[in-house]
Amino acid sequence: MTSKGGKRRVLFVCLGNICRSPMAEAVFIDLAHKRGLLDGLEVDSAGTGHWHEGDGADPRTVETLRRRGVKITHVARQIKPHVDLHAWDLVIVMDEMNHRDVVKLGFDRSKVRLMRSFDPSLSQPGAIVPDPYTGTERDFDAVFDMLVPACEGLLNELSAGNSGGAE
Ligand code: 4NP
Repeated sequence: MTSKGGKRRVLFVCLGNICRSPMAEAVFIDLAHKRGLLDGLEVDSAGTGHWHEGDGADPRTVETLRRRGVKITHVARQIKPHVDLHAWDLVIVMDEMNHRDVVKLGFDRSKVRLMRSFDPSLSQPGAIVPDPYTGTERDFDAVFDMLVPACEGLLNELSAGNSGGAE
């Protein structure tokens, strides 16, 4: 699990940092905790946009997680390139727009992966976690159901020592 420098550092990224990436962060932390892997990880989330800096997670994200028994405490923030660019082993994005945006900001392409690329049940590359912001609670539920297998797959890759950054 650990890289030479210690913990594996994982940053989840979406557009607003109030819906998908905070949910991904909460699900990932919950699963890692249950598997006894949390001590070897540093985890955060951030948005490419600035609009929600300082806000909590979207109430629909909080409610979806509450119904599924996953805790969340979250304060939204925008990516700060001068801090974040070299701070993370893996930058996990939700869709192609996030991917384009983080590469434009200067993140090393080799560290950037689509969230659902870790879901071993998906055979086609390029699956995204769609933005539920203008959708309904059902869309937030669907996001949750996409995040669980993807976060499980990510944990499997990390614990096998074959994903992301310096080994
Ligand atoms: P997220 O969803 O990227 O999953 O957090 C969004 C939240 C807010 C906005 C867009 C997407 N917005 O435009 O404010």
